Amino acid sequence: MRIALVGSGYVGLVAGACFADLGHQVVVVDNDQAKLDALNQGRAPIHEKFLPELLSRHRGSRLEFSANLQEAVRASEVIFVAVGTPPMESGEADLSFVESVAIEISGALGGYKLIVEKSTVPVYTSEWVRKVILRNGTDPACFDVASNPEFLREGTAVADFLFPDRIVIGCDSERSAAVLRQVYAPMTDGSYYQRPDAIPQPDRASVPPPILVTSSKSAELIKHASNSFLAMKISFINAVASICETVGADVSQVCQGVGADSRIGRRFLNPGIGYGGSCFPKDVLAFRAVARECGYDFRLLDEVMHINEEQRTRFLRKVRSALWTLRGKSLGVLGLAFKGGTDDIRESPAIFLVQALLQEGCRITAYDPAAMERAQEAIPSNIKFANSAYEAANGADALLILTEWEEFAQLDLNRLNQILKYPIVIDGRNMYDPEVMAAHGFTYYSVGRAACHPDGVSSSVLRYSEKNGEKNGAKRA
Ligand code: UDX
Ligand code: UDX
Repeated sequence: MRIALVGSGYVGLVAGACFADLGHQVVVVDNDQAKLDALNQGRAPIHEKFLPELLSRHRGSRLEFSANLQEAVRASEVIFVAVGTPPMESGEADLSFVESVAIEISGALGGYKLIVEKSTVPVYTSEWVRKVILRNGTDPACFDVASNPEFLREGTAVADFLFPDRIVIGCDSERSAAVLRQVYAPMTDGSYYQRPDAIPQPDRASVPPPILVTSSKSAELIKHASNSFLAMKISFINAVASICETVGADVSQVCQGVGADSRIGRRFLNPGIGYGGSCFPKDVLAFRAVARECGYDFRLLDEVMHINEEQRTRFLRKVRSALWTLRGKSLGVLGLAFKGGTDDIRESPAIFLVQALLQEGCRITAYDPAAMERAQEAIPSNIKFANSAYEAANGADALLILTEWEEFAQLDLNRLNQILKYPIVIDGRNMYDPEVMAAHGFTYYSVGRAACHPDGVSSSVLRYSEKNGEKNGAKRA
């Protein structure tokens, strides 16, 4: 099929590359010429596993990049809209990009076209897009509007797209449902997964994925409700972690016990310094605003956001309690991205903490495997960037772990101990087993678990490790 993707951000570019891999003819449109130039020269503007492979596989053949939206619309049967929907002061999503794209599309239809909302948008957006296109004089028989939310996570976006838990298509007509079924047919009929050059199947994938056909309003709500629920799960466990710290329980044990209930599940139950990124903070806020607009006071979501903010300040307090005064202290920081596996620093709790610590007068040397270039633009110049985790730790009064990169769970602990000025690690992502850290001579602080010191480990931690016979220092679900 001939498909246009409007917006070449994380969502649009990944979707475009994946649709091309499914066998469709795709044109990705963006109004950012610098981005288009980079893409046309074969450079991936974002750090995503498998994206460079897909771009080089299809660029110039099944995948093209263009600034000309109207031409792309004319040439396509389906137009996916994946432009940004940033939050406004009020918390509501700013839909002005979506509206202006809809207006431009309306001038270029000719023959039946399906317009599909792929950005995360509030309920009623499809209806508004439809109204806007009609207002611009388009014949209602010439188009349909559908909603097809995307559930990809940054860092694993390509695999999430091609091996989803479900495909949701929100369609208000048979015709639009048929078109979207055809778009996803190589996935739903399983043929894509039999190809020798298919992207490797991740562990948990169930293929072929189910397709769920709903109304467009339900699809819009599915996206907001899913992200808000996941954010709630993280805030819930962060709140439990705070109680664990107060009573001397171990949140890892609690997570294991709670997550073993299949109704709850172990995933997205990792405590830390709070969720960040371009989606959870924005979508919880937007869902809260949508609910209010519809006459429902969704106070639960206020608490989700409140706990998330508190988690960062709790971590700052932890740094203070570990180091006493902060002015002039030299800190090594591991991680700037909002999570591991991405170069994205939008709403990154790590960036928030670095900025707060700089304000307190700390000297910071930071390392991130992918996000340093972006961080350089966003944070004051008085931070130093290192080329490795060890360089960041060298001579520091303490080491802070702020992003859950896999490589930070595999550090050489003996080497680390030798190069730090004081062997203090404050881990915002629970990357290590406290007992192992103590055995390697560290004073180690983490989230929801007792602090441990080289001369002794809290008894609850000991009992847990003995019972599980764990030997390895790094562990993470
Ligand atoms: C964004 C939203 O944040 C997310 O909620 C939504 O689901 C999809 O869009 P992301 O892909 O990460 O996610 O956004 P961003 O990286 O900002 O990309 C949007 C792209 O659209 C940019 O490349 C921008 O240049 C482009 N754009 C924006 C247009 O081409 N036309 C416009 O009018 C506005
Ligand atoms: C999220 C959703 O997972 C995805 O389905 C949606 O399409 C876009 O938003 P993303 O923002 O890429 O994806 O990252 P995600 O892996 O969900 O992590 C979000 C934040 O939560 C990160 O800051 C991460 O560190 C944090 N997190 C995640 C936790 O603190 N604990 C967890 O257990 C899981």
